[in-house]
Amino acid sequence: MLENWILTILVSLGVGSILVMVALFMLLKNNVHAKIFWNEIVLENITNFVMDQSKEQRILNSVSYNAVKGDPESVINCIDKYCSQYEWAMNVGDEKGTILDKVVEEADPSVALELGTYCGYSAIRIARLLKPNTRLLTIEFNPEFASIAKEIIEIAGLSEKVTILEGHSEDIIPQLKKKYEVETLDFVFLDHWKERYAPDTILLEECGLLRKGSILLADNIIYPGAPEFIKYIRSNKRFECTSYPSHLEYMKVEDAMEKAVKDPGAAAMLF
Ligand SMILES: C[S@@+](CC[C@H](N)C(=O)[O-])C[C@H]1O[C@@H](n2cnc3c(N)ncnc32)[C@H](O)[C@@H]1O
Repeated sequence: MLENWILTILVSLGVGSILVMVALFMLLKNNVHAKIFWNEIVLENITNFVMDQSKEQRILNSVSYNAVKGDPESVINCIDKYCSQYEWAMNVGDEKGTILDKVVEEADPSVALELGTYCGYSAIRIARLLKPNTRLLTIEFNPEFASIAKEIIEIAGLSEKVTILEGHSEDIIPQLKKKYEVETLDFVFLDHWKERYAPDTILLEECGLLRKGSILLADNIIYPGAPEFIKYIRSNKRFECTSYPSHLEYMKVEDAMEKAVKDPGAAAMLF
């Protein structure tokens, strides 16, 4: 009698575990939030604990071992390969990276600003397209990410073109004119926390950092989305907006980038 009870409990536990695993598998397959939560919170923390290092450190290790020093393309390819095959990370990625490249080429900036450096992937994409005597300033508030980005940008051979400014965007933007000798910005890539897109765009305008024809490009317009920014920029007559549909980095999930050109007609009249 007792044996039957134990058997029933064991079978129930076994069936229950299988059902939980199937449900988890289906959830991870079909739900992007669950997939990112699983990768970023569960798997990443377990791997960090086991290896006693962060994912960003592992990205740096992969670049140090596999990329060709002084070759930005090989650093970009190495990060894309690592993040698509081993561990997802929040770089703009190869697909949206191609859109970023096109917009940077269109802007042909003398001074460019990036909000959100992370490991330096997009900074490398932007800086490799910059002409001589031009520069990219990139803002990052996480000291570990800033220092990893510095090393990766050094491996790419682009340290002379890129200055990492460590701190909060809202604190650094007002210092750009005096402390970093920026007159106006030709190109701004917004890729930090999404709720800062709108207030930082307004701050850039208030600080007189946007000129006629300045080009803004914002990532993650659909996933995770930046509704406040989209509402602000599309309803603002000073900006001409274009949407570039794409996919979230290293995933088959819809995303888009938004380009906003400040006073484009007025800029054309200057030439
Ligand atoms: C999506 S990642 C940037 C990815 C990077 N642009 C790339 O494509 O390689 C966002 C980064 O912005 C940083 N960040 C978020 N809010 C910020 C803020 N207000 N000021 C400075 N850095 C910020 C985060 O620490 C994170 O590293």
